[in-house]
Amino acid sequence: MQSLKNLARKGRNNFRAALQGIQTSKLNDLTFQSGLGDCAFLLYGLVKASKPKVVLEIGSARGRSTCFMGKALQENGVGKLFAIDPHTQTAWNDLDSIDTFQILKSNISTLGLNDVVEVLRDTSDRVARNWHREIDLLFIDGDHSYEGARRDWDLFSPFVRPFGSVIFHDTLWDLKPDPRYAHPDMGVPRVVDELRAEGYPVLTLDRDFGVSVVQPMRGGVPLRSRSQTTPETKSPLGTTC
Ligand SMILES: C[S@@+](CC[C@H](N)C(=O)[O-])C[C@H]1O[C@@H](n2cnc3c(N)ncnc32)[C@H](O)[C@@H]1O
Repeated sequence: MQSLKNLARKGRNNFRAALQGIQTSKLNDLTFQSGLGDCAFLLYGLVKASKPKVVLEIGSARGRSTCFMGKALQENGVGKLFAIDPHTQTAWNDLDSIDTFQILKSNISTLGLNDVVEVLRDTSDRVARNWHREIDLLFIDGDHSYEGARRDWDLFSPFVRPFGSVIFHDTLWDLKPDPRYAHPDMGVPRVVDELRAEGYPVLTLDRDFGVSVVQPMRGGVPLRSRSQTTPETKSPLGTTC
């Protein structure tokens, strides 16, 4: 009797694994018309690894970032993604992507992510008025002007836990401009450079127009207990910290 039960459990697990495999491949099948490219896997990996309870996304469009993070949340079995985008004409729509609301909803449904993704059809500043949740992972890919990206950081980064991450897309537009998508008002590199100068740790990937991960604590989170971080403390290499 016991072994029959085990057999049934194994069968169910195999079926779930197969289903997951199919759904992951669907991620690659959907057309998102997004500049995020393979850096979507960075978002997927960060969510898989850090097991966030609350993920906030600013700028969803057709949902490449939404679906990759949503898929990882679903696989984690915990966490919710709030996906903000007005889905109207803005200065920052991807090519042929104006009213993307139905396309986003359809992509979310195709992947079976309705339970993990909440679509907020609105602008980030309006959502911020009533926002109260602690955030584990914040993805900023909405209004790419200096004022817009800075505002998103100012409004939402205070809600991000010290060990959480804030990820900006399109941070390499100054160093690697692409004339096909040139935009005179592109201000994300300036915002992230300012944060770096203000002491926030920044890691930038030189791919897909630049993706930067910012830890929302100036100087980074100290990794030793307070008693060990006095100026006299010697590092393991023998030099004074
Ligand atoms: C580059 S697209 C986002 C791409 C998406 N993250 C992806 O992975 O494909 C930028 C999106 O930001 C949205 N947007 C522009 N201003 C916004 C604002 N103030 N708040 C939220 N979203 C905004 C636009 O509607 C557009 O869909």
